[in-house]
Amino acid sequence: MKKIVMMLTAVLAISLSACSQKKTETTMEQKVLVAYFSASGTTRGVAQQLAEVAGADLHEIKPEQPYTDADLDWNDKQSRSSVEMQDKHSFPLLHQEAAASRKRVLT
Ligand SMILES: Cc1cc2nc3c(=O)[nH]c(=O)nc-3n(C[C@H](O)[C@H](O)[C@H](O)COP(=O)(O)O)c2cc1C
Repeated sequence: MKKIVMMLTAVLAISLSACSQKKTETTMEQKVLVAYFSASGTTRGVAQQLAEVAGADLHEIKPEQPYTDADLDWNDKQSRSSVEMQDKHSFPLLHQEAAASRKRVLT
């Protein structure tokens, strides 16, 4: 969860940086992307508002295996999200990565 929040923050920082560059670089068309991960919908709402204000495209980062309510139980130290948060080397497979990997196998 901590990693996801950090990743989202980094993406937002890059997006906002792109927004600020837009004011100074008038000759080059800039596109802004808000990429977000949201298991429960909270972050999705914020990302949608941000994209609307910034006139940005919106992209959802999805895990290959969706998180269940039990996976997200942060009071349970053995839940999937708790275990992933404790493991610095844990990076859940993303839906996009899995799709790309399946495509590579097929071609
Ligand atoms: C592993 C994990 C740890 C969490 N830790 C906290 C916490 O310490 N304090 C808190 O208020 N909420 C905590 N939450 C709840 C999330 O902040 C909350 O569900 C938030 O709405 C998630 O939004 P999202 O699913 O859109 O990312 C935690 C959730 C998870 C999955």
